[in-house]
Amino acid sequence: MVSALLKQVSFFNGLSNVELNKVLAIAGVKKYTAGQMVFAKEDLGNQFFVVKSGRIKIFTSVGPEKKKTFAFLKKGDFFGEMSLLGGKTRSASAQAAENSELFVIPKKNFKKLILENPDFTLKLLHTLVERLNKCNKDVESMLFHNILGRLADAILELSKDKHSKPVKMAINQNELAQYLGTTRVPVCRAISTLKRSGVIDYRRGELIILNSARLHSIAGKTN
Ligand code: CMP
Repeated sequence: MVSALLKQVSFFNGLSNVELNKVLAIAGVKKYTAGQMVFAKEDLGNQFFVVKSGRIKIFTSVGPEKKKTFAFLKKGDFFGEMSLLGGKTRSASAQAAENSELFVIPKKNFKKLILENPDFTLKLLHTLVERLNKCNKDVESMLFHNILGRLADAILELSKDKHSKPVKMAINQNELAQYLGTTRVPVCRAISTLKRSGVIDYRRGELIILNSARLHSIAGKTN
């Protein structure tokens, strides 16, 4: 049942059954295979998405070489609201980073949801504030931190929802470079430095945090 599925998705948690039923009446589910584009930057925006399963990469690119990953979105996260609310075209591209399923809500129904459901609108605003805060921190980090500090920060951010001890995550060097908005060579060097000092281990695409306190300190954060 789609209603049971909606309840598993954190973005819809807290909505009343009446509100859930409204969403249910207007949401479709679409599957994407790893690597498939959901939409490209500058496309006309006409749908809002909530991740049902998998992982979606939000990124921008300048020319064929330069890419910047803004976020990896997971189950319960939403995207696609900016072009529906403000500008008409997509501010960034969205691509399935692994096999994913998305709830898809058409623009007309998205606006109706906002106008008629204060809980939904508040959740949306709350997340937008969090994303703006993260953007400010990214700008600060790009201006004032060196590549080592930025890499440490990115590792902490990307491993936030990993609970294994020690913390492990699968990520390749290209993904890390794009997350930092740089190229592979400086990231490769920074990884080697962190490895040499025993802060992380990194082999065949798997990164392990060995010294979390030191990683926080390199990122300029309190543990
Ligand atoms: P939209 O502009 O319609 O299409 C691209 C989407 O990416 C955008 O809506 C947001 O939902 C999402 N997005 C853009 N920038 C960020 C960011 N910095 N962090 C997370 N999501 C973003």
